[in-house]
Amino acid sequence: MSRLVCVSNRISLPRKSAAPGGLAVGILSALKRTGGLWFGWGGETVENDPGDPDIHIRDGVTYATVDLRQREFEQYYNGYANEVLWPLFHYFLKGMRYNSDERDAYENVNRTFASKLLPMLEPRDAIWVHDYHLIPLARLLREMGVKRPIGFFLHIPFPNIEMLRVLPSYAELLHDLTSYDVVGFQTENDLRAFHSGIEHLFGADAIKPDGRIRVGNRTVRADVFPIGVDVAAVQEEAITAINSDVVKRMTDSLVGRSLMMGVDRLDYSKGLVERFSAYQNFLETYPDNLGRITYIQIAPLSRTDVRAYVEIRQSLEQAAGRTNGRFADTDWTPIRYLNRNFPHATLMGFLRAAKVGLVTPLRDGMNLVAKEFVAAQDPTDPGVLILSNLAGAACELNSALLVNPYDTRAVGHAIQSALSMPLAERRERHATMMQVLSRNDIASWTRRFVDALDQTQNSDARVRAVGNGN
Ligand code: F6P
Repeated sequence: MSRLVCVSNRISLPRKSAAPGGLAVGILSALKRTGGLWFGWGGETVENDPGDPDIHIRDGVTYATVDLRQREFEQYYNGYANEVLWPLFHYFLKGMRYNSDERDAYENVNRTFASKLLPMLEPRDAIWVHDYHLIPLARLLREMGVKRPIGFFLHIPFPNIEMLRVLPSYAELLHDLTSYDVVGFQTENDLRAFHSGIEHLFGADAIKPDGRIRVGNRTVRADVFPIGVDVAAVQEEAITAINSDVVKRMTDSLVGRSLMMGVDRLDYSKGLVERFSAYQNFLETYPDNLGRITYIQIAPLSRTDVRAYVEIRQSLEQAAGRTNGRFADTDWTPIRYLNRNFPHATLMGFLRAAKVGLVTPLRDGMNLVAKEFVAAQDPTDPGVLILSNLAGAACELNSALLVNPYDTRAVGHAIQSALSMPLAERRERHATMMQVLSRNDIASWTRRFVDALDQTQNSDARVRAVGNGN
């Protein structure tokens, strides 16, 4: 058995509350099962050399965190990762702003990660790199002599070559991905998009009949590994939290009104402006609901130094204000819009209390809130999930009410259908989705990926390489 080494930009330190986003929750659940090392940015920036990683050990997991230089961090994280790769991979060219100095900083930060991780590696490690911040990491580790299996999982969508080649360094990015042994995507669509890039750059022959990719002397397994949730843990959290003071205070405040919930990082890809306008459409089209429904949108601030995030925040404040100004009554606020985060367990309690879960991103790798909403429900009286067909989760959760998030009138109708759906239908849809979630939970996601990495190790090419060192 190998030791699992996970590497990601964001990490969830045991002494701090969970970092927002699916990635941190997913990796933590994976590592709690297998034990191992989690290496990443510690959340601090410094003026000078970042020094050695800080180490914390808790419950079989070693957390190793590095600081990053302030200027470099801004260019790598706010700049290249979140003003180039994020919008491009989510098909939002309008939000993309390319700058080659930032591309250099991205490379340098990846080099810092590689050089700080290198001394911590052991001969039996399987290295699992996560997300778009760290695409060059395998190439840099290989240049430093690492021969161990290295896998990469992309939590966000992968764009088709016609979108990807807008990026000046798209060829380097594709080359970098071939330095991994296993490259994992959330959906078949993402895998197809990756194939389109491989075919464009290396020719159709590079994709072998068994799906493996052959580039030079490297063989890469590219496959689909949809991330799941820890179903039992979500259920337990939701059941416990529903009786907690904070959730009770919220449900009491509804005074019998139906609750519709949305929980998203404040990000333009989440479709919140369109969602608010769909809700407004719904209130206009179905006025019987005035005063009978409360929509709570939790949207913790995120990437606040990036211009597009400042703009979307302003648009949302205006949109929520418009709807409330128009429809509110002295004893009713149609939208409660909160820019704050809550502990994960409390969120699960909120989701359990909701009759409708509204998850309508304009594009999303997976969207774990959709899965958590389903897992958090009471199976005897479940709420209804309204889900964007542009979220990766829609490939698995096709018993949700699937909507096009841009079609605000259709989303408004879906809210009405959800609120009036008979119990038998709600139960049936919920049970079907629970089967999917249980079959592909977080444990099976981890197992499938780690098995794929271990198989790499056993292939002829790897066995020869493994003998040579780390
Ligand atoms: O899922 C995409 C992702 O970027 C994750 O990598 C991250 O955990 C989450 O969104 C939150 O983003 P950030 O780390 O930029 O706050």
